[in-house]
Amino acid sequence: MQAAIYPGTFDPITNGHYEMISRASRLFERVVVAIAGRPEKSPNLSLAARIELTREVTAGLDNVEVIGFSGLLTELMEKQQAHIILRGLRTASDFEYELQLANMNRAQMPELETVFLTSEAQHSYISSTLVREIAKLGGDVSKHVHPAVAQALRSHYNT
Ligand code: COA
Repeated sequence: MQAAIYPGTFDPITNGHYEMISRASRLFERVVVAIAGRPEKSPNLSLAARIELTREVTAGLDNVEVIGFSGLLTELMEKQQAHIILRGLRTASDFEYELQLANMNRAQMPELETVFLTSEAQHSYISSTLVREIAKLGGDVSKHVHPAVAQALRSHYNT
């Protein structure tokens, strides 16, 4: 039993991400959701807002903690003394990118292992981009995100 780091942008956290986190919390002693600042991706929600929402959504999971980070994931892994990166696979098309990411991380730090959990079918089509687009245009995202996230998106987009 070890710590697993679940990195991502979480702009915003969706039910698909939550599914990964809650399943991982039963597999690992500690799960750290590591939210990347990623200014190059121009996130819609600030890092502080993404951290706060993710903490709210995962509040019921005792062994889950949420942190923000900038810089290399491998540096964070070292700092956290963790060797397991957790990633989700929704569809076959996720696999190519994930394989590249996993191999690149391993090339930098050979002791790292990337563990993949496959999404439940009902979450396989959710992405943060689609959720943001629907929310921005005033649509209903309540099936895909926690109520606190839906509310935050409504205030963010003034819809
Ligand atoms: N359910 C729902 N959606 C999911 C999902 C799941 N289980 N898994 C992934 N997604 C979606 C995300 O919502 C996101 O959607 P979007 O592109 O529409 O916003 C997309 O899949 C991919 O996002 P995410 O999982 O957040 O990954 P990312 O590609 O944004 O983040 C990092 C990748 C942050 C892990 C990577 O860039 C990183 O490690 N950065 C730090 C710098 C570094 O070390 N770089 C070198 C890497 S080798």
